[in-house]
Amino acid sequence: MKVLVTGAAGFIGMNVARRLLERGDEVVGIDNLNDYYAVSLKNDRLAELNRIGGDAFAFHKVDFADYDALNGALGSLDFDGTVHLGAQAGVRYSIDNPHAYVQSNLVGHLNMLEFARNRRSAHLVYASSSSVYGGNSNLPFSVDDRVDRPLSLYAATKKSDELMSEAYANLYRLPLTGLRFFTVYGPWGRPDMALWIFTKAILEGRPIAVFNHGNMQRDFTYIDDIVTGVVACLDNPPPDDGLVKAGGSILPHRLYNIGNHRSEQLGHMIDLIEQACGMKAIRDPQPMQDGDVPATYADIAAIQRDLGFEPTTSIADGIPRFVDWYRNYHRL
Ligand SMILES: NC(=O)c1ccc[n+]([C@@H]2O[C@H](COP(=O)([O-])OP(=O)(O)OC[C@H]3O[C@@H](n4cnc5c(N)ncnc54)[C@H](O)[C@@H]3O)[C@@H](O)[C@H]2O)c1
Repeated sequence: MKVLVTGAAGFIGMNVARRLLERGDEVVGIDNLNDYYAVSLKNDRLAELNRIGGDAFAFHKVDFADYDALNGALGSLDFDGTVHLGAQAGVRYSIDNPHAYVQSNLVGHLNMLEFARNRRSAHLVYASSSSVYGGNSNLPFSVDDRVDRPLSLYAATKKSDELMSEAYANLYRLPLTGLRFFTVYGPWGRPDMALWIFTKAILEGRPIAVFNHGNMQRDFTYIDDIVTGVVACLDNPPPDDGLVKAGGSILPHRLYNIGNHRSEQLGHMIDLIEQACGMKAIRDPQPMQDGDVPATYADIAAIQRDLGFEPTTSIADGIPRFVDWYRNYHRL
């Protein structure tokens, strides 16, 4: 199978590309290597993919928000499937940098839909986000809940991606699967996310900002579980049979929550980092941040039913694995 992975130098993209290479697929990765966080980390991820994949991995540095550049980079290549994980991520950054989200997440998403349509890609799996649930207080969040009250521009772009995809499934019968990820963590993770920020600060003896005075809950999902779910989706395109799909579409378009189905207190997560680091955190309670949501919790019944997805990694197992990787990577 030949798979196009966008955001291949990113956290989830790299891990998906690695799993595909390990099972013998050919992977073409694209990424613009933007400097939202350390470009060196993105290059190190690509080096790892080159080491694992050899000739089965090809990489092109390209901005998929530039349609001509995208077509220029990929020439006349055809793919058996696309996993579209490239995006401008992060809720807080969208407050000061709204245009980055429109470019990568709206223009970029449309370009990937057009690209898939024109190349007759068999199936496009794309990243949405649990942030589409906004301040929904019905826990756990279900793909059947209303999601038209975003709290951040990031969430609004992800919901828009789902709407554009629905239109393309209707107009072109393009098989599409949208995945609402819930706080993904693990080795090769993102420096802008709480687990990385807390681990770094604790190891350096600096205080950590604990938002909403610690009254936050997150459904933390370990990267290997996420990758298993993404690959299961890639291998199982939604049929064009007129039946109602997960998320409510009668077109070949499914929407799944992909989480751990456990909502953990932020304080418990910090306890586990402290244990893994062998050091105490200096906790600095702070108010809630704009655009943030107090709790996330995934109802994963749809993806369990359709694809047999079962997350297997608790945060008690996953957090020490991240801290070990973090120390090795930084030679600490
Ligand atoms: N990690 C999470 O907890 C989480 C949660 C919800 C949703 N998501 C979504 O999952 C996807 C992957 O997230 P991630 O954690 O790997 O983020 P990431 O930032 O590590 O990876 C995204 C990659 O996309 C690339 N990119 C951005 N804009 C681009 C463009 N215009 N052209 C080419 N490449 C571009 C970036 O350089 C980056 O390497 C994103 O769509 C994100 O919104 C992630």
